[in-house]
Amino acid sequence: RKPVTLQRLLDMHAAGDKIAMLTAYDATFAHAMEAAGVDSILIGDSLGNVVQGQETTVPVRLEEMVYHTRCVARARHRAWIVADLPFGTYHASPREAWHSAMQLAQAGAHMVKLEGGGWTVETVRFLTERGIPVCAHLGLTPQTVTALSGYKVQGRDEQGAAQLKAHARELVDAGARMLVLEMVPSALAAELTATLGIPVIGIGAGADCSGQVLVMHDMLGVTPGRRPRFVRDFMQGSASVGEAFARYVADVKSGAFPAVEHTY
Ligand code: KIV
Ligand code: NA
Repeated sequence: RKPVTLQRLLDMHAAGDKIAMLTAYDATFAHAMEAAGVDSILIGDSLGNVVQGQETTVPVRLEEMVYHTRCVARARHRAWIVADLPFGTYHASPREAWHSAMQLAQAGAHMVKLEGGGWTVETVRFLTERGIPVCAHLGLTPQTVTALSGYKVQGRDEQGAAQLKAHARELVDAGARMLVLEMVPSALAAELTATLGIPVIGIGAGADCSGQVLVMHDMLGVTPGRRPRFVRDFMQGSASVGEAFARYVADVKSGAFPAVEHTY
């Protein structure tokens, strides 16, 4: 099958063909995801939690993201590769963001992801104009979990929803070509997916997004501690990791995942 391009993702969004995305941090799992037909692989700074054992993603360093991006990129065959810009590597200025994003691009990322709206708009434009595709990330933004006072649903009240919609529109106008929405009410995510004109990838954002993403360790049921509402353990009933990935892809494509019990 042909490699997934930015245009292909936009076409899938327009056609209503669901995009299946998972996080990976190394070549072996990335290879298994490729075999299972995952459309896009995210080297998430969630590696701070699931690989490094940190409380939050805040301590994750750019050089660590670069290393894991290289590992995943070596196994890349068809998937669109997105890498997170970690906390503090795009905050000071668009120029700083450029230097950080370039390192991820040189490590094999096709697109970089950054969290937040408003102040990020200028940076999204700066990177986009210079040829690095950007994925925005709104809703629950784990890098600012301290300021948000915990992992909770965002955009629930009218004011929060209005601000999220305004931020999303500005980011699209600045050139963002994908949006991750984390822990927002399904109705809000559905409205944004229908109106923004770019793929919206949900995690705890309901079934009406253009696609879904989950942290690999969560969907394999191996993350210690309490499982968030939006996660399904795909190892349940699967004979292998490869089968779990394949079932995730199938359930995202068919709309069977997420179900109501995974949504807000
Ligand atoms: O770091 C990550 O894994 C993410 C996804 C949860 C969207 O940002
Ligand atoms: Na992340």
